[in-house]
Amino acid sequence: MQEQALDFDQLEVGYDIPARPGMALSQVQTPALIIDLDAFESNIARLQADCDAKGVALRVHGKMHKCATAAHYQIAQGAVGICCQKMSEAESFARAGIKDILLSNQVRDPLKIDRLARLPKLGCKLSVCVDDAQNIEALSQAAGKHGIELDILVELESGAGRCGVGAGQPALELAQAIISAPHLSFKGLQAYCGTAQHIYDYEGRKAAIDKTIEEAKVTKELLESHGIPCEIITGAGTGTYPMEAASGVYTEMQCGSYAFMDADYQRVLDEDGKPLLHFQNALFIFTSIMSVAKQGGAICDAGLKSQSLNLAFPQFMAAPIYAMRLARMSMAILLTRMACCAPMINCCWCPAIATRPATCTTIMSVSEGTKLKPFGPSLHGASLSKSWRL
Ligand SMILES: Cc1ncc(COP(=O)(O)O)c(C=O)c1O
Repeated sequence: MQEQALDFDQLEVGYDIPARPGMALSQVQTPALIIDLDAFESNIARLQADCDAKGVALRVHGKMHKCATAAHYQIAQGAVGICCQKMSEAESFARAGIKDILLSNQVRDPLKIDRLARLPKLGCKLSVCVDDAQNIEALSQAAGKHGIELDILVELESGAGRCGVGAGQPALELAQAIISAPHLSFKGLQAYCGTAQHIYDYEGRKAAIDKTIEEAKVTKELLESHGIPCEIITGAGTGTYPMEAASGVYTEMQCGSYAFMDADYQRVLDEDGKPLLHFQNALFIFTSIMSVAKQGGAICDAGLKSQSLNLAFPQFMAAPIYAMRLARMSMAILLTRMACCAPMINCCWCPAIATRPATCTTIMSVSEGTKLKPFGPSLHGASLSKSWRL
């Protein structure tokens, strides 16, 4: 894994970073983000194997982690590149040495288009989505100005009611406009149905994604009947990728959340009504109890602004601890599952700590009074192996 150089001697624990590599988990200043490397690496391997088995490329979505260290690892394990959703993300990844980036969104602001057209000069292959003819003209001009060739995908509106043109004729017209524009190269279609990803029941999710797949298929066939091949059909997320991958229509999966997994995805069920357990939660907020003044409750030091609540509340990983005699304990440490992936810790840059819980021997649990004692397989005593800049 390519490491980003952090000079730990220049950083103060507590103020700049929550811990230094080599520290025990019990010494970590909370709240802190913890990455469980065993779970992370297992998630990466699992999706890569699924994509390889289905013969589709994996272009991981980087907006989920916004972390070049994670992206380099995913690419080293077989991903063809990354997606990102904003110019600033694309710039950060390109500067961090990522060589193949799809901006899976529209870029319209003239200054941002100019920044976009400069990125290939950093040595990365760049593609971007369009859903409007004027945007094609602006991208073509910027590419000409900077002496580059831009790869373009037509985005289909795939059920979210947001970006993208309708399937069929509107997409064909845009593809023809791209082919006619200098400095642009038409590569294919993006058809990502975000609203389907978190539909919990399998049948509902499948019905939504079948519609998206059908629209992508019909559009691809229409373009081909006009002599326009689609080299790439890209889309899919953690909730639906087995369907797109098996469709015979898609060439590329864009899954993002699978790498860290969020709490809400654990509610998404497979064909047999079981949770998608082949991916594990790998990102946690490590937090301490700071008050038990309220009878029957405990207040931890990771407030709302430390968490992302856009889909669900966090789940407590250490539920047995939480359920214990909270009123009598003076301090406990909880691992809280992230409810959604984007962490929002308040600092200008936010290191996450990477560790391997499986290598440790005990867990912190709360017994009567204020003592902590071992409680089964565990986290206490884990030593931190890395710090990742997000
Ligand atoms: C265009 C696009 N592709 C792929 C993804 C990844 O989806 P997930 O994080 O559910 O795997 C997203 C996430 O919202 C997205 O916006």
